[in-house]
Amino acid sequence: MAEHKRKKRGRPTRRDRRETSETRPDDEGEIRLNKYVARAGVCSRRKADALIDQGLVKVNGEAASEYWYQVQPGDVVEVNGRVISPRQFIYILLNKPKDTITTTSDERGRKTVMDLVHLPAGEGDGLFPVGRLDRDTTGTLLLTNDGELAHRLMHPRHEIMKRYVVQTRRAVKPHEIDQLKRGIDLDDGLARVDQIAYVRPPNHHEIGIEIHEGRNRQVRRMIEALGHEVVSLERVAYAKLTTARVRRGKWRRLVSHEIRRLRKLVHLK
Ligand code: URA
Repeated sequence: MAEHKRKKRGRPTRRDRRETSETRPDDEGEIRLNKYVARAGVCSRRKADALIDQGLVKVNGEAASEYWYQVQPGDVVEVNGRVISPRQFIYILLNKPKDTITTTSDERGRKTVMDLVHLPAGEGDGLFPVGRLDRDTTGTLLLTNDGELAHRLMHPRHEIMKRYVVQTRRAVKPHEIDQLKRGIDLDDGLARVDQIAYVRPPNHHEIGIEIHEGRNRQVRRMIEALGHEVVSLERVAYAKLTTARVRRGKWRRLVSHEIRRLRKLVHLK
Protein backbone atom coordinates (compact mmCIF):
# COMPACT_ATOMS: atom_id res chain seq x y z
CA MET A 1 0.00 0.00 0.00
CA ALA A 2 3.07 2.23 -0.11
CA GLU A 3 1.86 4.15 -3.11
CA HIS A 4 -1.62 4.57 -1.65
CA LYS A 5 -2.50 8.01 -0.49
CA ARG A 6 -3.27 7.94 3.23
CA LYS A 7 -5.75 10.40 4.63
CA LYS A 8 -5.36 9.79 8.31
CA ARG A 9 -2.77 8.59 10.83
CA GLY A 10 -3.08 6.35 13.89
CA ARG A 11 -5.58 3.62 14.56
CA PRO A 12 -9.03 5.10 15.14
CA THR A 13 -11.36 3.90 17.83
CA ARG A 14 -14.58 2.04 17.07
CA ARG A 15 -16.41 5.35 17.59
CA ASP A 16 -14.17 7.12 15.08
CA ARG A 17 -14.78 4.29 12.69
CA ARG A 18 -18.53 4.63 13.07
CA GLU A 19 -18.59 8.37 12.76
CA THR A 20 -16.15 8.71 9.93
CA SER A 21 -17.64 5.95 7.84
CA GLU A 22 -21.08 7.48 8.14
CA THR A 23 -20.59 11.18 8.27
CA ARG A 24 -17.44 12.25 6.44
CA PRO A 25 -18.02 13.23 2.85
CA ASP A 26 -15.98 11.56 0.13
CA ASP A 27 -13.41 13.66 -1.58
CA GLU A 28 -14.01 14.43 -5.24
CA GLY A 29 -13.82 11.20 -7.29
CA GLU A 30 -12.70 9.14 -4.32
CA ILE A 31 -14.62 6.66 -2.29
CA ARG A 32 -13.74 5.16 1.07
CA LEU A 33 -12.68 1.53 0.73
CA ASN A 34 -15.34 0.03 3.01
CA LYS A 35 -18.02 1.99 1.17
CA TYR A 36 -16.64 0.88 -2.18
CA VAL A 37 -16.93 -2.76 -1.09
CA ALA A 38 -20.47 -2.19 0.21
CA ARG A 39 -21.49 -0.40 -2.97
CA ALA A 40 -20.30 -3.34 -5.01
CA GLY A 41 -22.98 -5.32 -3.19
CA VAL A 42 -20.45 -7.56 -1.43
CA CYS A 43 -21.65 -6.82 2.11
CA SER A 44 -22.38 -3.97 4.52
CA ARG A 45 -19.74 -1.38 5.37
CA ARG A 46 -19.27 -2.93 8.81
CA LYS A 47 -18.66 -6.35 7.30
CA ALA A 48 -16.34 -4.73 4.76
CA ASP A 49 -14.29 -3.40 7.69
CA ALA A 50 -13.95 -6.99 8.94
CA LEU A 51 -12.92 -8.25 5.50
CA ILE A 52 -10.30 -5.50 5.32
CA ASP A 53 -9.04 -6.41 8.81
CA GLN A 54 -8.71 -10.03 7.66
CA GLY A 55 -6.63 -8.95 4.67
CA LEU A 56 -9.23 -10.22 2.19
CA VAL A 57 -9.51 -6.92 0.34
CA LYS A 58 -6.74 -6.01 -2.09
CA VAL A 59 -6.11 -2.69 -3.76
CA ASN A 60 -3.89 -2.83 -6.85
CA GLY A 61 -2.76 -6.31 -5.85
CA GLU A 62 -1.83 -5.54 -2.24
CA ALA A 63 -3.84 -6.37 0.86
CA ALA A 64 -5.42 -3.18 2.13
CA SER A 65 -4.97 -2.52 5.81
CA GLU A 66 -7.04 0.63 6.32
CA TYR A 67 -10.77 0.82 5.76
CA TRP A 68 -10.46 4.59 5.47
CA TYR A 69 -8.26 4.30 2.41
CA GLN A 70 -9.82 6.41 -0.34
CA VAL A 71 -10.10 4.40 -3.53
CA GLN A 72 -8.79 6.51 -6.40
CA PRO A 73 -10.15 6.45 -9.95
CA GLY A 74 -8.26 3.64 -11.71
CA ASP A 75 -7.62 1.57 -8.57
CA VAL A 76 -8.38 -2.14 -8.92
CA VAL A 77 -10.11 -3.56 -5.85
CA GLU A 78 -10.48 -7.28 -5.21
CA VAL A 79 -12.36 -9.19 -2.54
CA ASN A 80 -11.43 -12.83 -2.11
CA GLY A 81 -9.64 -12.67 -5.45
CA ARG A 82 -12.61 -11.26 -7.38
CA VAL A 83 -12.38 -7.77 -8.89
CA ILE A 84 -15.32 -5.67 -7.76
CA SER A 85 -16.77 -2.34 -8.77
CA PRO A 86 -19.46 -0.24 -7.15
CA ARG A 87 -22.80 -0.15 -8.85
CA GLN A 88 -25.25 2.65 -9.23
CA PHE A 89 -27.92 2.41 -6.58
CA ILE A 90 -31.52 2.51 -7.66
CA TYR A 91 -34.59 3.31 -5.61
CA ILE A 92 -38.01 2.30 -6.85
CA LEU A 93 -41.38 3.06 -5.35
CA LEU A 94 -43.95 0.50 -6.42
CA ASN A 95 -47.70 0.68 -5.95
CA LYS A 96 -48.13 -3.00 -5.23
CA PRO A 97 -51.32 -4.63 -6.53
CA LYS A 98 -53.12 -7.57 -4.92
CA ASP A 99 -52.11 -11.13 -5.65
CA THR A 100 -48.39 -10.39 -5.87
CA ILE A 101 -45.74 -11.89 -3.61
CA THR A 102 -43.15 -9.64 -1.95
CA THR A 103 -40.03 -11.62 -2.76
CA THR A 104 -37.28 -11.64 -5.36
CA SER A 105 -38.31 -15.07 -6.67
CA ASP A 106 -41.03 -17.56 -5.93
CA GLU A 107 -40.30 -21.24 -6.25
CA ARG A 108 -44.00 -21.88 -6.94
CA GLY A 109 -43.93 -19.53 -9.92
CA ARG A 110 -46.40 -17.04 -8.46
CA LYS A 111 -46.27 -13.42 -9.59
CA THR A 112 -43.79 -11.38 -7.57
CA VAL A 113 -43.24 -7.66 -7.14
CA MET A 114 -40.08 -8.04 -9.23
CA ASP A 115 -42.20 -9.07 -12.23
CA LEU A 116 -43.71 -5.57 -12.21
CA VAL A 117 -40.47 -3.61 -12.41
CA HIS A 118 -38.84 -3.60 -15.84
CA LEU A 119 -35.45 -1.93 -16.00
CA PRO A 120 -32.74 -1.81 -18.64
CA ALA A 121 -30.50 -4.91 -18.56
CA GLY A 122 -28.14 -4.87 -15.60
CA GLU A 123 -29.69 -1.86 -13.90
CA GLY A 124 -31.92 -3.90 -11.65
CA ASP A 125 -29.15 -6.21 -10.44
CA GLY A 126 -29.43 -6.83 -6.73
CA LEU A 127 -32.80 -5.10 -6.45
CA PHE A 128 -34.96 -6.35 -3.59
CA PRO A 129 -38.03 -5.22 -1.66
CA VAL A 130 -37.51 -3.35 1.60
CA GLY A 131 -39.64 -5.34 4.03
CA ARG A 132 -42.75 -7.11 2.89
CA LEU A 133 -46.40 -6.66 2.23
CA ASP A 134 -48.78 -9.63 2.32
CA ARG A 135 -49.91 -11.09 -0.97
CA ASP A 136 -53.22 -9.22 -0.84
CA THR A 137 -51.97 -5.99 0.71
CA THR A 138 -51.70 -3.18 -1.81
CA GLY A 139 -49.79 0.09 -1.86
CA THR A 140 -46.42 1.62 -1.18
CA LEU A 141 -43.41 -0.67 -1.42
CA LEU A 142 -39.83 0.48 -1.73
CA LEU A 143 -37.32 -1.60 -3.72
CA THR A 144 -33.61 -0.92 -3.89
CA ASN A 145 -30.20 -2.50 -4.32
CA ASP A 146 -28.80 -0.23 -1.61
CA GLY A 147 -28.43 -2.95 1.01
CA GLU A 148 -27.18 -0.72 3.76
CA LEU A 149 -30.06 1.70 3.49
CA ALA A 150 -32.59 -1.12 3.21
CA HIS A 151 -31.32 -2.94 6.26
CA ARG A 152 -31.40 0.20 8.32
CA LEU A 153 -34.92 1.03 7.19
CA MET A 154 -36.02 -2.46 8.21
CA HIS A 155 -34.26 -2.31 11.59
CA PRO A 156 -36.73 -1.63 14.44
CA ARG A 157 -34.26 0.84 15.96
CA HIS A 158 -35.10 3.38 13.26
CA GLU A 159 -38.85 3.18 13.88
CA ILE A 160 -39.83 3.85 10.29
CA MET A 161 -43.41 5.10 9.97
CA LYS A 162 -45.89 3.03 7.97
CA ARG A 163 -49.45 4.20 7.37
CA TYR A 164 -52.22 1.81 6.37
CA VAL A 165 -55.87 2.10 5.42
CA VAL A 166 -57.86 -0.94 6.42
CA GLN A 167 -61.40 -1.71 5.35
CA THR A 168 -63.46 -4.02 7.51
CA ARG A 169 -66.64 -5.99 6.82
CA ARG A 170 -68.37 -4.72 9.98
CA ALA A 171 -68.15 -1.25 11.48
CA VAL A 172 -65.28 -0.73 13.93
CA LYS A 173 -66.83 0.72 17.10
CA PRO A 174 -65.28 3.71 18.88
CA HIS A 175 -64.48 1.52 21.92
CA GLU A 176 -62.54 -0.82 19.58
CA ILE A 177 -60.58 2.16 18.31
CA ASP A 178 -59.74 2.86 21.98
CA GLN A 179 -58.65 -0.77 22.43
CA LEU A 180 -56.34 -0.46 19.43
CA LYS A 181 -54.92 2.75 20.92
CA ARG A 182 -54.18 0.93 24.19
CA GLY A 183 -52.49 -1.93 22.31
CA ILE A 184 -53.52 -5.44 21.31
CA ASP A 185 -52.02 -8.51 22.89
CA LEU A 186 -50.77 -10.68 20.03
CA ASP A 187 -48.95 -13.98 20.40
CA ASP A 188 -45.64 -12.19 19.78
CA GLY A 189 -46.33 -9.42 22.29
CA LEU A 190 -48.27 -6.20 22.66
CA ALA A 191 -48.82 -4.42 19.35
CA ARG A 192 -49.37 -0.70 19.44
CA VAL A 193 -50.53 1.90 16.95
CA ASP A 194 -48.99 5.38 16.85
CA GLN A 195 -52.06 6.99 15.28
CA ILE A 196 -55.51 5.73 14.48
CA ALA A 197 -58.64 7.42 13.11
CA TYR A 198 -61.67 6.82 10.93
CA VAL A 199 -60.72 7.86 7.40
CA ARG A 200 -64.11 9.31 6.45
CA PRO A 201 -66.33 9.63 9.51
CA PRO A 202 -69.13 8.77 10.06
CA ASN A 203 -68.09 5.74 7.94
CA HIS A 204 -66.75 3.25 10.53
CA HIS A 205 -65.65 0.62 8.01
CA GLU A 206 -62.42 2.32 7.01
CA ILE A 207 -59.67 3.22 9.45
CA GLY A 208 -56.26 4.76 9.06
CA ILE A 209 -53.52 3.25 11.21
CA GLU A 210 -49.95 4.41 11.65
CA ILE A 211 -47.37 2.04 13.14
CA HIS A 212 -43.61 1.97 13.31
CA GLU A 213 -43.17 -1.72 14.08
CA GLY A 214 -42.98 -4.13 11.18
CA ARG A 215 -44.12 -7.43 12.58
CA ASN A 216 -45.47 -10.06 10.25
CA ARG A 217 -49.12 -9.40 9.28
CA GLN A 218 -49.31 -7.00 12.18
CA VAL A 219 -52.20 -4.84 11.04
CA ARG A 220 -54.37 -7.77 9.97
CA ARG A 221 -53.68 -9.61 13.20
CA MET A 222 -54.57 -6.56 15.32
CA ILE A 223 -57.86 -6.07 13.50
CA GLU A 224 -58.68 -9.77 13.45
CA ALA A 225 -57.94 -10.03 17.19
CA LEU A 226 -61.00 -7.80 17.69
CA GLY A 227 -63.12 -10.25 15.69
CA HIS A 228 -63.15 -8.18 12.48
CA GLU A 229 -62.74 -9.39 8.95
CA VAL A 230 -60.30 -7.36 6.86
CA VAL A 231 -61.79 -6.63 3.44
CA SER A 232 -58.75 -4.76 2.14
CA LEU A 233 -55.47 -3.41 3.41
CA GLU A 234 -53.46 -0.72 1.69
CA ARG A 235 -50.17 0.82 2.77
CA VAL A 236 -50.60 4.47 1.87
CA ALA A 237 -47.24 5.72 3.17
CA TYR A 238 -43.82 4.35 4.03
CA ALA A 239 -41.32 6.71 5.66
CA LYS A 240 -43.53 9.52 4.33
CA LEU A 241 -43.19 8.22 0.76
CA THR A 242 -46.52 7.72 -0.93
CA THR A 243 -47.69 6.24 -4.20
CA ALA A 244 -50.49 8.80 -4.46
CA ARG A 245 -49.53 9.62 -8.06
CA VAL A 246 -48.54 6.11 -9.08
CA ARG A 247 -51.21 3.81 -10.49
CA ARG A 248 -51.66 0.35 -8.96
CA GLY A 249 -49.08 -2.04 -10.42
CA LYS A 250 -46.89 0.87 -11.63
CA TRP A 251 -43.74 2.34 -10.15
CA ARG A 252 -41.53 5.40 -10.20
CA ARG A 253 -37.95 6.17 -9.28
CA LEU A 254 -37.31 8.17 -6.14
CA VAL A 255 -35.96 11.63 -6.80
CA SER A 256 -32.73 12.77 -5.20
CA HIS A 257 -34.25 14.76 -2.34
CA GLU A 258 -36.32 11.71 -1.36
CA ILE A 259 -33.22 9.52 -1.33
CA ARG A 260 -31.32 12.07 0.73
CA ARG A 261 -34.20 12.27 3.19
CA LEU A 262 -34.35 8.47 3.57
CA ARG A 263 -30.61 8.24 4.14
CA LYS A 264 -30.76 11.00 6.72
CA LEU A 265 -33.64 9.28 8.47
CA VAL A 266 -31.43 6.26 9.18
CA HIS A 267 -28.27 8.28 9.83
CA LEU A 268 -26.52 7.49 6.58
CA LYS A 269 -24.67 10.14 4.69
N1 URA B 1 -49.62 -5.56 8.19
C1 URA B 1 -50.28 -6.60 7.65
O1 URA B 1 -51.10 -7.23 8.29
N2 URA B 1 -50.03 -6.90 6.37
C2 URA B 1 -49.17 -6.21 5.60
O2 URA B 1 -48.99 -6.54 4.43
C3 URA B 1 -48.49 -5.14 6.17
C4 URA B 1 -48.74 -4.83 7.48
